[in-house]
Amino acid sequence: MKFFVDTADVAAIKELNDLGMVDGVTTNPSLILKSGRDILEVTKEICDMVSGPVSAEVVATEAKDMIVEGLKLAKIASNIAIKVPLTWDGLTACKAFASEGHMVNVTLCFSAAQAILAAKAGATFISPFIGRLDDINLDGLELIEDIRMIYDNYDFKTEILAASIRSVNHISDCAKIGADVITAPPAVIKAMANHVLTDKGLDQFLKDWAKTGQKIV
Ligand code: E4P
Repeated sequence: MKFFVDTADVAAIKELNDLGMVDGVTTNPSLILKSGRDILEVTKEICDMVSGPVSAEVVATEAKDMIVEGLKLAKIASNIAIKVPLTWDGLTACKAFASEGHMVNVTLCFSAAQAILAAKAGATFISPFIGRLDDINLDGLELIEDIRMIYDNYDFKTEILAASIRSVNHISDCAKIGADVITAPPAVIKAMANHVLTDKGLDQFLKDWAKTGQKIV
Protein backbone atom coordinates (compact mmCIF):
# COMPACT_ATOMS: atom_id res chain seq x y z
CA MET A 1 0.00 0.00 0.00
CA LYS A 2 1.36 3.42 -0.96
CA PHE A 3 1.21 6.39 1.41
CA PHE A 4 0.48 9.81 -0.01
CA VAL A 5 0.46 12.82 2.32
CA ASP A 6 -2.57 15.07 2.00
CA THR A 7 -1.05 18.49 2.60
CA ALA A 8 0.86 21.40 1.09
CA ASP A 9 2.82 21.91 4.31
CA VAL A 10 6.40 21.44 3.17
CA ALA A 11 7.85 20.96 6.67
CA ALA A 12 5.31 18.24 7.49
CA ILE A 13 6.02 16.44 4.20
CA LYS A 14 9.77 16.62 4.85
CA GLU A 15 9.47 15.07 8.30
CA LEU A 16 7.59 12.05 6.94
CA ASN A 17 9.64 11.86 3.76
CA ASP A 18 12.89 11.66 5.74
CA LEU A 19 11.47 8.52 7.39
CA GLY A 20 10.61 6.95 4.04
CA MET A 21 6.86 7.25 4.68
CA VAL A 22 6.00 9.32 1.59
CA ASP A 23 5.21 7.69 -1.75
CA GLY A 24 3.47 10.80 -3.05
CA VAL A 25 1.55 13.95 -2.10
CA THR A 26 -1.95 15.23 -2.75
CA THR A 27 -2.96 18.87 -2.63
CA ASN A 28 -6.19 20.69 -3.35
CA PRO A 29 -7.26 24.36 -3.43
CA SER A 30 -8.21 24.30 0.27
CA LEU A 31 -4.80 22.89 1.24
CA ILE A 32 -3.04 25.53 -0.90
CA LEU A 33 -5.08 28.20 0.94
CA LYS A 34 -4.09 26.66 4.29
CA SER A 35 -0.40 26.71 3.30
CA GLY A 36 -0.54 30.43 2.51
CA ARG A 37 1.83 29.76 -0.41
CA ASP A 38 1.74 30.36 -4.16
CA ILE A 39 0.52 27.17 -5.87
CA LEU A 40 3.30 27.04 -8.47
CA GLU A 41 6.08 27.71 -5.95
CA VAL A 42 4.94 25.33 -3.23
CA THR A 43 4.13 22.56 -5.70
CA LYS A 44 7.60 22.88 -7.25
CA GLU A 45 9.18 22.68 -3.79
CA ILE A 46 7.19 19.52 -3.02
CA CYS A 47 8.06 17.94 -6.38
CA ASP A 48 11.76 18.59 -5.75
CA MET A 49 11.52 16.79 -2.40
CA VAL A 50 9.28 13.84 -3.26
CA SER A 51 9.98 11.53 -6.18
CA GLY A 52 6.48 10.00 -6.35
CA PRO A 53 3.33 11.54 -7.83
CA VAL A 54 2.35 15.01 -6.57
CA SER A 55 -1.27 15.89 -7.31
CA ALA A 56 -1.97 19.51 -8.27
CA GLU A 57 -5.60 20.44 -8.89
CA VAL A 58 -7.13 22.50 -11.68
CA VAL A 59 -9.79 25.04 -10.71
CA ALA A 60 -11.45 25.70 -14.07
CA THR A 61 -14.83 24.07 -14.58
CA GLU A 62 -14.87 23.75 -18.37
CA ALA A 63 -12.76 21.06 -20.03
CA LYS A 64 -10.92 23.39 -22.40
CA ASP A 65 -9.86 25.65 -19.52
CA MET A 66 -8.98 22.66 -17.33
CA ILE A 67 -6.68 21.45 -20.09
CA VAL A 68 -4.86 24.80 -20.24
CA GLU A 69 -4.45 24.86 -16.45
CA GLY A 70 -3.46 21.20 -16.24
CA LEU A 71 -0.77 21.53 -18.88
CA LYS A 72 0.67 24.51 -16.98
CA LEU A 73 0.70 22.50 -13.74
CA ALA A 74 2.29 19.53 -15.54
CA LYS A 75 5.19 21.76 -16.57
CA ILE A 76 6.17 22.20 -12.89
CA ALA A 77 7.81 18.76 -12.80
CA SER A 78 7.64 15.33 -14.38
CA ASN A 79 6.03 13.81 -11.25
CA ILE A 80 2.91 16.00 -11.36
CA ALA A 81 -0.41 14.16 -11.39
CA ILE A 82 -3.01 16.58 -12.76
CA LYS A 83 -6.03 16.54 -10.48
CA VAL A 84 -9.46 17.08 -12.02
CA PRO A 85 -12.92 16.91 -10.44
CA LEU A 86 -15.27 14.07 -11.29
CA THR A 87 -17.54 16.04 -13.59
CA TRP A 88 -18.19 15.40 -17.25
CA ASP A 89 -15.75 18.21 -18.10
CA GLY A 90 -13.22 16.72 -15.68
CA LEU A 91 -13.52 13.35 -17.41
CA THR A 92 -13.06 15.03 -20.80
CA ALA A 93 -9.89 16.71 -19.54
CA CYS A 94 -8.75 13.43 -17.95
CA LYS A 95 -9.01 11.65 -21.29
CA ALA A 96 -7.03 14.43 -23.01
CA PHE A 97 -4.28 14.40 -20.36
CA ALA A 98 -4.07 10.58 -20.26
CA SER A 99 -3.82 10.44 -24.06
CA GLU A 100 -0.76 12.69 -23.85
CA GLY A 101 0.85 10.48 -21.20
CA HIS A 102 0.19 12.65 -18.14
CA MET A 103 -0.76 11.14 -14.78
CA VAL A 104 -4.29 12.12 -13.80
CA ASN A 105 -5.97 11.99 -10.38
CA VAL A 106 -9.76 12.19 -10.67
CA THR A 107 -10.99 13.63 -7.40
CA LEU A 108 -14.28 14.17 -5.55
CA CYS A 109 -15.52 10.64 -6.28
CA PHE A 110 -18.54 9.63 -4.23
CA SER A 111 -19.99 6.65 -6.13
CA ALA A 112 -18.95 3.42 -7.82
CA ALA A 113 -20.56 4.63 -11.04
CA GLN A 114 -18.30 7.70 -11.05
CA ALA A 115 -15.27 5.46 -10.46
CA ILE A 116 -16.16 3.36 -13.51
CA LEU A 117 -16.25 6.48 -15.69
CA ALA A 118 -12.87 7.66 -14.37
CA ALA A 119 -11.27 4.30 -15.20
CA LYS A 120 -12.78 4.38 -18.71
CA ALA A 121 -11.39 7.92 -19.16
CA GLY A 122 -7.88 6.67 -18.41
CA ALA A 123 -7.40 8.03 -14.87
CA THR A 124 -4.16 7.03 -13.17
CA PHE A 125 -5.83 7.47 -9.76
CA ILE A 126 -9.44 7.63 -8.60
CA SER A 127 -9.95 9.48 -5.31
CA PRO A 128 -13.06 8.30 -3.42
CA PHE A 129 -13.67 10.53 -0.37
CA ILE A 130 -14.32 8.36 2.69
CA GLY A 131 -14.67 10.98 5.41
CA ARG A 132 -17.07 13.22 3.54
CA LEU A 133 -19.39 10.24 2.91
CA ASP A 134 -19.21 9.28 6.59
CA ASP A 135 -20.07 12.92 7.41
CA ILE A 136 -23.47 12.50 5.74
CA ASN A 137 -24.07 9.09 7.34
CA LEU A 138 -23.12 7.06 4.28
CA ASP A 139 -20.40 4.39 4.38
CA GLY A 140 -17.14 5.62 2.85
CA LEU A 141 -15.36 2.30 3.33
CA GLU A 142 -18.18 0.45 1.56
CA LEU A 143 -17.45 2.63 -1.48
CA ILE A 144 -13.78 1.58 -1.40
CA GLU A 145 -14.90 -2.09 -1.26
CA ASP A 146 -17.28 -1.60 -4.19
CA ILE A 147 -14.68 0.10 -6.38
CA ARG A 148 -12.08 -2.57 -5.52
CA MET A 149 -14.50 -5.30 -6.61
CA ILE A 150 -15.47 -3.53 -9.82
CA TYR A 151 -11.90 -2.66 -10.84
CA ASP A 152 -10.82 -6.27 -10.13
CA ASN A 153 -13.78 -7.66 -12.10
CA TYR A 154 -12.63 -5.84 -15.21
CA ASP A 155 -8.91 -5.52 -14.54
CA PHE A 156 -9.06 -1.72 -14.68
CA LYS A 157 -5.56 -0.33 -14.15
CA THR A 158 -6.69 2.87 -12.39
CA GLU A 159 -5.34 2.91 -8.83
CA ILE A 160 -7.73 3.42 -5.92
CA LEU A 161 -6.46 6.39 -3.92
CA ALA A 162 -8.54 6.43 -0.75
CA ALA A 163 -8.97 10.08 0.25
CA SER A 164 -10.68 12.21 2.88
CA ILE A 165 -9.20 9.98 5.55
CA ARG A 166 -9.92 11.07 9.10
CA SER A 167 -8.68 8.24 11.31
CA VAL A 168 -6.08 5.53 11.79
CA ASN A 169 -8.84 2.94 11.44
CA HIS A 170 -9.71 4.32 8.01
CA ILE A 171 -6.15 3.52 6.92
CA SER A 172 -6.12 -0.02 8.42
CA ASP A 173 -9.52 -0.73 6.86
CA CYS A 174 -8.37 0.53 3.45
CA ALA A 175 -5.34 -1.76 3.70
CA LYS A 176 -7.63 -4.74 4.45
CA ILE A 177 -9.87 -3.88 1.51
CA GLY A 178 -6.89 -3.50 -0.81
CA ALA A 179 -6.89 0.19 -1.72
CA ASP A 180 -3.75 0.82 -3.75
CA VAL A 181 -2.98 4.13 -2.07
CA ILE A 182 -4.19 6.15 0.91
CA THR A 183 -3.77 9.87 1.22
CA ALA A 184 -4.00 11.23 4.76
CA PRO A 185 -3.07 14.33 6.72
CA PRO A 186 0.37 14.10 8.38
CA ALA A 187 -1.19 13.97 11.87
CA VAL A 188 -3.24 10.88 11.00
CA ILE A 189 -0.20 9.09 9.56
CA LYS A 190 1.82 9.91 12.69
CA ALA A 191 -1.06 8.75 14.92
CA MET A 192 -0.66 5.26 13.42
CA ALA A 193 2.30 4.82 15.79
CA ASN A 194 0.18 5.37 18.89
CA HIS A 195 -1.28 2.67 21.13
CA VAL A 196 -2.34 3.03 24.74
CA LEU A 197 -0.79 -0.35 25.62
CA THR A 198 2.52 0.72 24.05
CA ASP A 199 2.55 3.79 26.32
CA LYS A 200 1.55 1.72 29.36
CA GLY A 201 4.08 -1.02 28.64
CA LEU A 202 6.91 1.47 28.08
CA ASP A 203 6.07 3.27 31.30
CA GLN A 204 6.29 -0.01 33.27
CA PHE A 205 9.57 -1.04 31.60
CA LEU A 206 11.13 2.33 32.44
CA LYS A 207 10.00 2.13 36.07
CA ASP A 208 11.39 -1.41 36.44
CA TRP A 209 14.62 -0.44 34.70
CA ALA A 210 15.15 2.44 37.11
CA LYS A 211 14.84 -0.04 40.01
CA THR A 212 17.70 -2.16 38.59
CA GLY A 213 20.09 0.78 39.02
CA GLN A 214 21.79 -0.26 35.77
CA LYS A 215 22.85 1.80 32.74
CA ILE A 216 23.30 0.60 29.14
CA VAL A 217 25.76 3.35 28.17
C1 E4P B 1 -7.82 14.27 -1.60
O1 E4P B 1 -7.04 14.32 -2.52
C2 E4P B 1 -8.29 15.45 -0.86
O2 E4P B 1 -7.27 16.41 -0.90
C3 E4P B 1 -8.58 15.20 0.60
O3 E4P B 1 -8.33 13.85 0.96
C4 E4P B 1 -9.87 15.74 1.08
O4 E4P B 1 -10.00 15.45 2.46
P1 E4P B 1 -11.06 16.22 3.39
O5 E4P B 1 -12.41 15.66 3.10
O6 E4P B 1 -10.61 15.88 4.79
O7 E4P B 1 -10.95 17.67 3.06
